[in-house]
Amino acid sequence: MSQSVYPVPEKWAEEALIDDARYQRMYRASVEDPEGFWREEAKRLDWMKPFTQVKETSFHEADFGIRWFADGTLNLSANCLDRHLAERGDTVAILWEPDHPSDQERRITYRELHEQVCRFANVLKSRGIGKGDRVTIYLPMVPEAAVAMLACARIGAIHSIVFAGFSPDALAGRIEDCDSRIVLTADEGRRGGKTVPLKANVDAALARVPDVETVIVLAHTGADVPLVEGRDIDWNTALANQPADCEPVEMSAEDPLFILYTSGSTGKPKGVLHTTGGYAVWASMTHEYVFDYRPGEIFWCAADVGWITGHTYVVYGPLMNGGTTVMFEGVPNYPDASRVWQVVDKFQVDTFYGAPTALRALMAEGDEWVAKTSRKSLRLLGSVGEPINPEAWEWYYRVVGEERCPIVDTWWQTETGGAMITPLPGATALKPGSAARPMFGVQPLLLDSDGKVLEGASEGSLVIADSWPGQMRSVWGDHERFFQTYFTTYRGYYFSGDGCRRDKDGYYWITGRIDDVINVSGHRMGTAEIESALVAHRKVAEAAVVGMPHSVKGQGIYAYVTTNVEVQPDEALQAELIKWVRQEIGPIATPDVIHFTPALPKTRSGKIMRRILRKIAENDTSSLGDTSTLADPAVVDHLLSSRPMAG
Ligand code: PRX
Repeated sequence: MSQSVYPVPEKWAEEALIDDARYQRMYRASVEDPEGFWREEAKRLDWMKPFTQVKETSFHEADFGIRWFADGTLNLSANCLDRHLAERGDTVAILWEPDHPSDQERRITYRELHEQVCRFANVLKSRGIGKGDRVTIYLPMVPEAAVAMLACARIGAIHSIVFAGFSPDALAGRIEDCDSRIVLTADEGRRGGKTVPLKANVDAALARVPDVETVIVLAHTGADVPLVEGRDIDWNTALANQPADCEPVEMSAEDPLFILYTSGSTGKPKGVLHTTGGYAVWASMTHEYVFDYRPGEIFWCAADVGWITGHTYVVYGPLMNGGTTVMFEGVPNYPDASRVWQVVDKFQVDTFYGAPTALRALMAEGDEWVAKTSRKSLRLLGSVGEPINPEAWEWYYRVVGEERCPIVDTWWQTETGGAMITPLPGATALKPGSAARPMFGVQPLLLDSDGKVLEGASEGSLVIADSWPGQMRSVWGDHERFFQTYFTTYRGYYFSGDGCRRDKDGYYWITGRIDDVINVSGHRMGTAEIESALVAHRKVAEAAVVGMPHSVKGQGIYAYVTTNVEVQPDEALQAELIKWVRQEIGPIATPDVIHFTPALPKTRSGKIMRRILRKIAENDTSSLGDTSTLADPAVVDHLLSSRPMAG
């Protein structure tokens, strides 16, 4: 733990939207009088019909339910676009930076974006898509991804974005789960100089889910991709002759806005469902306060729209706030390790918000890549997705921000919709590695293993005591699973799945997942998901996957594999299994280590002792704990002597 504390710079305390006194006052109001607080905050949106009810929520089984602003109506696309037209129609809404720096950037104003969204909404309507229909989006980081999202929101269709790095199988599972009849994709994506065969992946996925009626294909790289007669249509051909206006549909605040699949402790990813009104208030409010955002500033959230961070802080938050948002197609170290900072200079970015894994990778390349760039436009930095280690934090602060820019380390989840525990730059003294204090309306508690609430400085499971507007509302198609997953571990509380420590100043330090979820390069992976991919291979009998410390990725993937008896495990099989998992899930799930073993350590009742597997993966073998309950303690000796080197 780092001992350093960085006080709020005077200029920030004076000029920021929220200073410490205001934070304290607003926080108190938000938990003592949530109705009044949120009634006021919800005024940031244009409502079609004003709400009268604010908060109707309970985490208890008897009257379980989460509803915010339920009798109000609004349209999120209108809140992101139409209402800005009069005042800032010619302001750039999206600044797009291509994968390769010599390709042309794109600048799309609010007026242009509005027109594109309306036209595309009309395309969707012409394909029979309307309110409540699910639209799967499998696009690279191009402005059309935002156009597609906003077009769905405009007509009340529910978007389900699948990260363009996922495999055909993973895509098929997600299309099937939400039963979408339409897929939006591109010929190819580009990332770090490589192309990704998106249309080919869609074709492969649809071989498994034949019910899809329409595929709209954006010509992005210009690759020659075959279109299936009657099913596929070129994006621009579809747009031709569509009118440039489209009335936004009046949506109830609790109508679904989007589904986003995320990994949990079980094998199957869950469709996290967010609804309209509460999510919109949360995204807009957190974007404004956490980043002290003022219209006119250039805001760059370097996440892909395939993740929640991209939904909330590339698209919805900044656009609701009339901002200029940067969309970057590429990767931080391509063509070289200066790229991110060159883009900052090129667009005169005010706020940069990225993941620790990227910072660690850039830090490893050396300071000279940063020093070559000016970065004078930067005023604020942000971090998200995984715990940031104090070394990376200090590097970000000193080398990137030249000790001028506060860092907001924002803890949150796909499920929470937006930032939950975070410093506010004008209010919170910073401690490297700590996400600091709760956002308005967020009541974090730490519980011990018996579910007892811990007071003061302590460490335990992080739960949230009461609902906030941006909270997910359900698991698509399985409301019971929603309740079971989040509200039964500790009755009456939302369980985050994270461990956390609170220090004497009330600062929160997230220690990482305490369930069977690992965080690889800021990407959330269920160990069970990788295990089911491994056992689907015909040579594998059993697999157990755990996280291992990794200097750049945060956590790496360590897979214990037992092969079928007739199979001889060797290097070739190792390579084959790695390739297999990449195909089954996608490159983000690539195992770092495959550890072949004739058996896994199990209790006499047959339960795999993951604690031991984690320790061995961490190379922390001095404290394996009690192994006497194992059915065959010799398994552990074998595992210790056969531990492979990290790949
Ligand atoms: O373990 C926490 C970690 O990422 C998990 C949520 O992952 P996901 O749903 O993919 O959303 C990521 C982007 C919001 C959390 O349970 N996490 C996220 N932000 C932080 C973090 N861990 C520590 N510090 C953070 N700032």
